[in-house]
Formats: sequence, C-alpha cells, structure tokens
Amino acid sequence: MTTPGIEALSFFTPRRYVHLNELATHHGIDPAKFSRGIGQEKIALPNADEDIVTMAAEAALPIVERVGVESIDTVLFATETGIDQSKAAAIYVHRLLGLSPNCRCVELKQACYSATAALQMAASYVARKPSRKVLVIASDVARYDLGSSGEATQGAGAVAILVSSEPKIAEIGTESGLYTEDCMDFWRPNHRRTPLFDGKASTLRYLNALVEAWKDYQANGGLDYDAFSRFCFHVPFSRMGEKANSHLAKANGQKQNPDHVLPSLIYNRQVGNCYSASLYLALISVLENDETDLTGKNIGLFSYGSGATGEFFDLRVQPGYAEHLFPEQHQSLLQDRDAIDYDGYITLWHEKDLTQGTQECASGRFRLTGIEDDKRIYVDQQA
Ligand code: CAA
Repeated sequence: MTTPGIEALSFFTPRRYVHLNELATHHGIDPAKFSRGIGQEKIALPNADEDIVTMAAEAALPIVERVGVESIDTVLFATETGIDQSKAAAIYVHRLLGLSPNCRCVELKQACYSATAALQMAASYVARKPSRKVLVIASDVARYDLGSSGEATQGAGAVAILVSSEPKIAEIGTESGLYTEDCMDFWRPNHRRTPLFDGKASTLRYLNALVEAWKDYQANGGLDYDAFSRFCFHVPFSRMGEKANSHLAKANGQKQNPDHVLPSLIYNRQVGNCYSASLYLALISVLENDETDLTGKNIGLFSYGSGATGEFFDLRVQPGYAEHLFPEQHQSLLQDRDAIDYDGYITLWHEKDLTQGTQECASGRFRLTGIEDDKRIYVDQQA
C-alpha cells in the first residue's frame, strides 16, 4: 500500500506589507527588538477586498491548474478567522476553483492547529481511497490590537496542500504525538475582531505542549531525535521557532543545531503570523530554501493551537521533491509586494469589511467585491 503524503504545496500572501522598522520608529522602539528579539521583518496586510477565501483560492490555484479537478473530492479549510458562523469558507473556494460538485467541503477550527487535524484526516482518507485527492487549505489573518505586545506579530496568508497517494513531495509518517490541555493563553470570543491573549504565558504553554507531544510521539514508537534532519515548528514569530528548536534539543539532552530550523523561518519572517498556515509556510520555506538536498530526510513538525492542542509528527522527503514545488512563484510573490507607511497601515487596520464594494486592490485573481444583504460576493476576475 502506498503511504499517503503531500503531492503539492503552495502559498499566497497579500501584496501589501508594512515593514516593522516603520512600527519601531513610530513607537520609539529599537528596530532590533523586532528584527532580532521577535525575529520578524514584515507584516502582510490584506486589503478590504481580500480575505481568507480569496487568499485560499489564490494559494490553491497553481495546484488545481497542475493536477486538474477530477480527482479532488474533498476540501478541508482550516482557519481561526472564519467569515461565517455557519457556512464553510471551503464552499466559496470550491466554486472559485471550479471543483466538481461531487465534493465534500468543510471548515475546521482549533486555533493555529486545525490544518494538522485536516492533514491527518486527509491522509487517513486517501489511504482508504487511493484514487482520491484532498485539498487541505489553511488561511488566516492575524490581527492584534494596536499597541499590544502582539502587534509586531501580525500577518496574513494561506497555504494549500494536496494530500494524495502520490506523495511527490513527502510521505506523512503514521506515528504522531498528541497533547491537549484546557488553558486560556489566546482566544477570540465571537464578538471580537482581535484576540485576547496572555503573550508570555502563551509561549510557555506552547513549549510545554511541544515537550508533551514529543513524549507521546516517542511513547507511540516515533523516530528518535537523531533521525531528524530538520524541524518545522508553528511560527507565531520566527524567534518562537528558534526557541522551540532549542527547547526540544534540551529535552533530548542535546545541543541545539540552528541548521535544524533556520531555513524554515525565511518566509515567515516576511509574512508574519498566519496562524493555521504558519507551520506549513515554514515547511514550504525549508523545502524551497534549504541548501541541502533533503531527499530521504525526516522532517519533524510541531503544530500548536492555543487553548491548547499540540501534535508532533514526521514527514519523509521524497526523491525529486524539488521539481514539484513553486519556488520562483513564491519568491516573486514576496519580492513584488508594495510597502506601505505607518499611516497607510493604520488606515488598512481600521478598515472594516466592505459593505458596498471598494477600490480594486486585491493582489491576485480573486476578489471580494461586496457584501450585500450579508451575502459575500466573490469574483474570479478572469471568468
Ligand atoms: N534588541 C534585541 N532584542 C531585544 C531588544 C533589542 N533592542 N529588546 C528586547 N529584545 C528581546 C527580548 O530580550 C526578548 O527576547 P527573549 O524572548 O529571548 O527573552 C524579545 O525581544 C521579546 O521581548 P519582550 O520580552 O519584551 O516581549 P514582548 O513584549 O515583545 O512580547 C510576546 C513577546 C509576548 C511573544 C508578544 O510578541 C506576544 O504577545 N505575541 C502574541 C502571542 C504569541 O504569539 N504567542 C506565541 C505562543 S501562542 C501561539 O503560538 C499561537 C499563536 O499563533 C498566537
């Protein structure tokens, strides 16, 4: 039986960003606090005509163009910044991508973790139905209150993952380690646009969940620490990935190796937090930027969703994986963006959902053109 895994991986982030030096200048803070202390450079900012749906459709488009729509019968949409309490964002994306009507579309939530639940469900499904492919999409807008400790860690983006029985990029290992505890480190009640959080405590809950999930992974017969060449951690900000790397090494009585994690942080530094998508943006970053050929290597992934659930699992990189990635598109997406100044950032931050259309600004092919009678209207500008 073929081991299920990742056949294709793609991401999208909006065209506009604010550089953290702008924020540092405005707040009278040493820019090194953000560039080194937090480890971030830029905050990606969606325009009013972009949201989790348009970003998700943009991320998935290159995959659908490559593999066609026939074999995709499931779309699992992971987000913690949902746009509707009832209707799944997956259904809008399904229409925008022209997928078959004979398809199941669902939205999943558990803070930044739910894309991992989706990935595991998808792997189990394609193991049972090897002719089917599942589109897992993680898409989020990380927006924090102005002046809060989280402000510098904002961002936006989406990752699309095609899970199938043709794992051209990586096989998904069968073992995982799980950990859940009921804690209030980060949450967003329905009436709020921005989250409530206990920043410092959240970093400790994250590190605790990492070690507990790792122990469970070991107890379940997972690979030894030494079997891993690289690790990808959930990245709320890139220093957290570095801290996780050193914490896991220490828990295993080892000295941390920065090469284990640094290539996975390159894209996240440029995009900012994108919650459910962040871990998988880190995965794309290591696969597209690592100078070592990762063929046959094991990558350990730690997924964390505040509240909290964590999971540690592994991927095995496949021969020829690099031919199935989209590095040129991703690098030009990041390079060809527009910097906006502090005032522009504040204006965008305050912009509410558009109610009667807006100036066309979306970066890609898909736009939210309006909300009429509480119905969101999405268009494919090439249709
Ligand atoms: N030059 C270099 N470094 C500097 C500096 C300077 N001039 N000034 C400060 N620093 C360093 C500090 O020494 C500190 O480093 P260490 O962490 O290694 O000690 C670092 O910059 C951060 O500075 P502070 O300790 O002053 O902390 P802060 O007020 O900036 O807050 C934070 C940090 C609490 C993590 C904040 O970013 C935050 O609240 N973020 C939102 C919550 C979050 O992301 N939590 C992560 C775990 S939860 C999760 O992962 C889910 C999720 O996606 C939200």
